[in-house]
Amino acid sequence: MPVDRARLGTLITRERAAYAVAHPMSAELFRAADHLFGRVPMTWMAKWSGGFPLYLDRAAGNRIVDVDGLEYVDFALGDTGAMAGHSPQPVVAAVATRLGQLGGITTMLPTADAEWVGAELRRRFGLPLWSFTLTATDANRWAIRLARLATGRPKILTFAYCYHGSVDEAFAIPGPDGDAVARAGNAGAPVPLHMTTRVAEFNDLGSVEAQLAHGDVAAILTEPALTNIGIVLPEPGFMAGLRDLKRRYGALLIIDETHTFSAGPGGATQLCSLQPDILVIGKSIGGGIPSGAYGITNDVAGMVGAHPEADLIDVGGVGGTLAGNALSVAAMRATLEDVLTDAAFAHMVDVATLFTRGVQEAIDRAGLSWSVSQLGARSEYRFASPAPRDGTSSAAAGDEVLEEFLHLFLANRSVLITPFHNMALMCPVTTRDDVQLHSRLFGEALDELVGTGSV
Ligand SMILES: Cc1ncc(COP(=O)(O)O)c(C=O)c1O
Repeated sequence: MPVDRARLGTLITRERAAYAVAHPMSAELFRAADHLFGRVPMTWMAKWSGGFPLYLDRAAGNRIVDVDGLEYVDFALGDTGAMAGHSPQPVVAAVATRLGQLGGITTMLPTADAEWVGAELRRRFGLPLWSFTLTATDANRWAIRLARLATGRPKILTFAYCYHGSVDEAFAIPGPDGDAVARAGNAGAPVPLHMTTRVAEFNDLGSVEAQLAHGDVAAILTEPALTNIGIVLPEPGFMAGLRDLKRRYGALLIIDETHTFSAGPGGATQLCSLQPDILVIGKSIGGGIPSGAYGITNDVAGMVGAHPEADLIDVGGVGGTLAGNALSVAAMRATLEDVLTDAAFAHMVDVATLFTRGVQEAIDRAGLSWSVSQLGARSEYRFASPAPRDGTSSAAAGDEVLEEFLHLFLANRSVLITPFHNMALMCPVTTRDDVQLHSRLFGEALDELVGTGSV
């Protein structure tokens, strides 16, 4: 059943008004932010529905309290940065020890925690050698440089509507002749995309092979499921086919697990035995403290090592002054050792399954042609059914107006989902009651949308 746009407009007006009345302090802080570019500390923070963002007062576990004193059940979890929950106690303790007792937040000297984290990442993801960053973007950038160095090839193959951070090569979609062109909104691209990138459609091995056949691809860079254009799950055989193709055409496979870590303790890589050459992870592994990492195989290390002229320990383009600092590494150790454990994932997947079921039941009851996809602890609905199978069709199913209504309806009733599309993430302390609250509210929102509830 299509959504009645006039009715949607009426509902949004009502929800915006309620949002403005409930958040005078947030509105005032936003109004007064004359010295911030876009009025926010980072331009994306303008993304919140309702005309201005909620200002944070405090957060713990999966609860956020805003400056107007309102408390929320948080399914946004910092768009995955807080998948471990807000300020988990083991991370707070490890960070406090490093900050307050030991000192030495950043010294350019290694600490013993780093080897522990490297060994744990090896246990979870299978790659033997690790290096640290502060963001997933940096991990991707440095991984791309190493892939180019290792293979001597210039281009990166990405998928239409992928997102890997502010990585220049990845903002590509296929143009009319199949060559890469910039996706809409790509700001200040250094060179035209076809010079750096080959682009294919997710779940379409034919399109991948056609691009690899040019013989100039250093690496395929992909998530195991697209997660930044809704969730687009891989069809059976797609990831295995990707691995066969990259071997046949002499490219490397970089798997970005930054979001798909939600699949389990070793991400989709462990769950589906993906065997990447390079693995990238960021956001959540530091429990909220800026952290990222990339892992490489011994083969890749050997290929890189064959280039002694490449400067990897100073100004050669890989590494950063604050990366691998003692604070960040201590936070990663605490997160992996005591928070995002195997047991925590089992619980998170369990409540995400309940969440997904609640969304599906509400969609069915309302008779809407929407779909919901789950990736471990992560769940997301899309305004299309069946669920889109590639980035381009998922992009076509986007509807920012509908999203604004749903996000506002939930926020006005104490539930936050991510401001970027319709993602909800579970953390170790998310409860079944939290999920049931969302299910009830989501059902009420859809009732109003299709006219079975009162406006
Ligand atoms: C798959 C993936 N990789 C990398 C990044 C970049 O992460 P960050 O912005 O923390 O560098 C993101 C951000 O959303 C992401 O979704």
